[in-house]
Amino acid sequence: MSDRRGGPRGDLKQRVRTARGRTVSSKRWLERQLNDPYVARAKREGYRSRAAYKLLEIDERFHLLRPGQRVVDLGAAPGGWSQVAAAKVGSHPGAAGPRGRVVGIDLLEIEPMPGVDFITLDFLDPSAPARLVDLLGGPADLVMSDMAANATGHRKTDHLRIMGLAETAAAFAREVLAPEGAYLAKVLQGGTEGALLADLKRDFAVVRHVKPAASRADSSELYVLATGYRGEAGGPQDGEPDEDETASDWRP
Ligand SMILES: C[S@@+](CC[C@H](N)C(=O)[O-])C[C@H]1O[C@@H](n2cnc3c(N)ncnc32)[C@H](O)[C@@H]1O
Repeated sequence: MSDRRGGPRGDLKQRVRTARGRTVSSKRWLERQLNDPYVARAKREGYRSRAAYKLLEIDERFHLLRPGQRVVDLGAAPGGWSQVAAAKVGSHPGAAGPRGRVVGIDLLEIEPMPGVDFITLDFLDPSAPARLVDLLGGPADLVMSDMAANATGHRKTDHLRIMGLAETAAAFAREVLAPEGAYLAKVLQGGTEGALLADLKRDFAVVRHVKPAASRADSSELYVLATGYRGEAGGPQDGEPDEDETASDWRP
């Protein structure tokens, strides 16, 4: 995520091999970080994470973020997505145009950021939704989740965990989104399945899967994007969904 462990390339092997008994996988992670153009770009352009480019790319394609909007960032640390959202919705002091609002939550503490309110808490904690709603001060235009539980290495467990987070985020989105609002969440290869996909198709006009270029090709992550929220009491609750762009938006 962050590149804080990066260092001069010259002594890479020595550092990777000896530092605190790193495992093979963390050594691979570190080498990849040091060679990743998005990590270098994030450092250069002042983003807290390479993940910022995933949201920038998704927003460029689908125009999710606009001045004056309210945005919830789930799994916000270290804050790359929040930085992008704050700049686009104009939530920072002195922003031109209508003032937006960004609230974020993470298990990890996040360094303060102008125009963004962060909560350090497990999103699955029963008190989390109400605390986010309090800070939001009105219906949300976008609920976005980049939450990922630490990988256990057990494929099925990891899949279930990330889907559980995406489902909880979707349930929250349904409670706080304004009509026409959007939901964006990290899922795993194979995409959104079963009940979550059916619910999203029922409650949103369009459901897509997106794999931004900044998402590593060898990673099984991708994002589900649902736009055009029909509202709590809205739209048809049964019958066929309007549209499913899942297949056409796949970019493996
Ligand atoms: C890939 S990182 C997010 C990067 C972020 N979008 C950015 O741009 O900087 C995933 C984050 O999800 C957080 N996370 C995982 N499970 C969580 C939970 N149950 N509640 C809150 N945060 C969680 C992790 O602590 C981690 O910081």
